[in-house]
Amino acid sequence: MSRFQLTRTLDEHSAEEALRADVLQGLSARPKVLPPKWFYDTRGSELFEEITRLPEYYPTRAEREILLARAAEIAAVSGARTLVELGSGSSDKTRHLIAAMPELELYVPVDVSASALEGAAAVLLAEHPKLRVHAMIADFTRPLPLPESAGPRLVLFLGGTIGNLLPGERAEFLRSVRSVLSPGDALLLGTDLVKDESVLVAAYDDAQGVTAEFNRNVLAVIDRELGADFHAGDFEHVAVWNRREEWIEMRLRARHELTVKIRELDLAVEFAAGEEIRTEVSAKFRQEGVRAELAAAGLELTRWWTDEQGRFALSLATATAD
Ligand code: AVJ
Repeated sequence: MSRFQLTRTLDEHSAEEALRADVLQGLSARPKVLPPKWFYDTRGSELFEEITRLPEYYPTRAEREILLARAAEIAAVSGARTLVELGSGSSDKTRHLIAAMPELELYVPVDVSASALEGAAAVLLAEHPKLRVHAMIADFTRPLPLPESAGPRLVLFLGGTIGNLLPGERAEFLRSVRSVLSPGDALLLGTDLVKDESVLVAAYDDAQGVTAEFNRNVLAVIDRELGADFHAGDFEHVAVWNRREEWIEMRLRARHELTVKIRELDLAVEFAAGEEIRTEVSAKFRQEGVRAELAAAGLELTRWWTDEQGRFALSLATATAD
């Protein structure tokens, strides 16, 4: 029997529909907004990988440090036989964890990119002759029917990606994660932490301009997919720390007055000089906030680990009885 299975719950047609709806709604809103998930076409995913290697972008390295230091503890405390990873990408960091989990039978990576899933599965299957991999092409922000599998289950949501959701969306997301867990199952959650504004802003506005290119890439996606005529050069990359909300905002600021035509939406979008599109929120957390958000979803924070410098945290939370 093959140890690899691939399920698709996201077809290209509905992805395109979702993009059209998001762009129509977001660019008609005041202030203008676009959801960050549209950064990640092939070019955008490459640019994000490049970001993770920038000197200013510490979250990936900080999280890997914690995962390496705590892999054995995570394996022992969870005792997981099934590991589900939401937004698994290349599964690069997860490989260390899997190597520390002798009880593990099934790995379920969930991602929107089929190529990333296939690449990651090939590596893991070769490294672990008994492991089964059931990859799922899906939008992990949507409720997700998981394959039948042995408990205990451990769900991973790494990278600080939960920070891309607004507070109400986070509550809904954590509830939907809780709904696929049984009491005793666990969630391992990566969150970037509140710190000095200068460190945070530098991480989202690097000296080499890679993050600026990543930000502008969403315009190239809309040009290609919806026949728009955005010119990346007309927009300036902006990263600001919102002190009240404790999140970083990335924006694209029109350098001058302009009109953009979006053929497939039959829409003309006007920009005043200096007008901005908010393209991403990346929330930063404190332990008490994480604990409260988890508790509200029926998850109890049982372990809190940070890197040596206290920049990033991994939380282990157990599903409580409903
Ligand atoms: C992949 C969502 C965790 O918010 O830090 C990196 C994306 N945006 N630089 C983040 C991102 C700008 C990243 N996440």
